[in-house]
Amino acid sequence: MPKVVVTGSCGLIGSEVCRFFARQGFQIHGIDDNHRAVFFGPEGDTSWVLEHLRNEIPGYRHAALDIRNRDGVLALMDEERPDLIIHTAAQPSHDRATTIPFLDFEVNALGTLHLLEAARRSCPESPFIHMSTNKVYGDRPNGIALRELATRFEYDDPAFEHGIPEDLSIDQSKHSLFGASKVSSDIMVQEYGRYFHMPTCCLRGGCLTGPNHSGVELHGFLSYLIKCNVQGREYKVYGYKGKQVRDNIHSEDVARFMFEFWKSPRVAEVYNLGGGKGNACSILEAFGMAGDISGRAMSYRYIDENRIGDHICYYSDLRKMRAHYPAWDIGISLPRIFEEITASWMGRRSDKSARAMG
Ligand SMILES: NC(=O)c1ccc[n+]([C@@H]2O[C@H](COP(=O)([O-])OP(=O)(O)OC[C@H]3O[C@@H](n4cnc5c(N)ncnc54)[C@H](O)[C@@H]3O)[C@@H](O)[C@H]2O)c1
Repeated sequence: MPKVVVTGSCGLIGSEVCRFFARQGFQIHGIDDNHRAVFFGPEGDTSWVLEHLRNEIPGYRHAALDIRNRDGVLALMDEERPDLIIHTAAQPSHDRATTIPFLDFEVNALGTLHLLEAARRSCPESPFIHMSTNKVYGDRPNGIALRELATRFEYDDPAFEHGIPEDLSIDQSKHSLFGASKVSSDIMVQEYGRYFHMPTCCLRGGCLTGPNHSGVELHGFLSYLIKCNVQGREYKVYGYKGKQVRDNIHSEDVARFMFEFWKSPRVAEVYNLGGGKGNACSILEAFGMAGDISGRAMSYRYIDENRIGDHICYYSDLRKMRAHYPAWDIGISLPRIFEEITASWMGRRSDKSARAMG
C-alpha cells in the first residue's frame, strides 16, 4: 500500500487530498497543528476536520507537528519514508502576512525548505507536490489590457484569451509579503527538482474552494462569500466595483490532478491550477449565484479601495496541464461548487443549533 504524507491535512486542500488518496488505496499520514486558528482565530479552527478525518479514513495517522520544527520534520520523514509528499500547509492570506511577517515567512518559506530537505535525505525518488499560488505573479496580471463589461472585467489582449500561462514573469511586481514568501518556496521546490533531479511540482493555485473550507474574511473568497449569504452577514467588497474576476476550482479537481502527477511524475514542473475561464466569475456574479441558491439576497458594503496588489482579473490558462495530463480536466462546474458550499454552510449551521439544543 503506497503511503502519502499530507501537510496541512486539516485545511481545505489537505483534507480533500487525504480523503481522495485514501479512496485510491493510499495509507494517509497527515501533518497539521491547527495553525489556521493561530492565523485567523476561532473561525479558522480546523479541529472539526481532524475529527472527520479520523472517523472517515481507516488507519488515518496524524502528527500535530509544526512544519517550522526542523528536527521534527526530518525525523518524521525519516521514519515514514513516504512514496508521495503533498505539501499544502501554509499561512495562506496576503492580508494577514502584513501583521505576522516573520511567522508567514517561517511557515511558507522555511517550513517548505524543511520538507524538501527531509524528502531529499529520506525519499528523494518520491514525488513532491507543492501548493503554490497565483500570487507568485504579484500584480503583474493587472498590467494586461482589460475591458469592462456590465458585471466583470475581461482580458482585452488576445494573448491572454485562454487565461494566464505559466511563463508570465514572477519578477519585478508587487506580491505582498505572502506572495514573496510563496515565491521563495515555489523557487525552492523548482530548485530541488532541477538541482537534485527530484520529481517536484508547483501548483500555482487560483481560487481553490469546496465544502470543507473554513472560509474567513481574509482567506477563502467563495467559501466566505457564501457563508455570509447563508448566515445573513454583510460582505465587504474591496474596490474594482465588485467586477474583479476569480477562477474557482473544486478541491476534488485539485486532488485529481495530483493523482495524475503521482502516476506520471515530472521534474521541476510548474502549473497554473485554477478553474480556468469556464469556472471564472466576478464578485457581483457570485452574489447573484449565491442568492439564487439560498433564496437570500446578498447583503454587502462597497469599500472604494482595492486590497493592495489584488488581481483585477485572473483566470488560469489550463492548456499546459491538459497537454501534460490529458486524463485530467475540470470535473466540477461552478454552479455545482456553489451548491456544495451552500449545503455545507447550511449543514454547519444546523449542526451548531443541534449542539446548542442538545
Ligand atoms: N484556498 C485558496 O484559494 C488557495 C489559492 C491559492 C493557493 N493556495 C495554497 O494552497 C495551500 C492550501 O490552502 P488551503 O486553502 O487548503 O489553506 P488552509 O488554511 O485551509 O489549510 C492549510 C492548513 O495548514 C495548516 N498549517 C498552517 N501552518 C502550519 C504549520 N506551521 N505546521 C503545520 N500545519 C500548518 C493549517 O492549520 C491548515 O489546516 C496553501 O499553500 C495555499 O497558499 C490556496
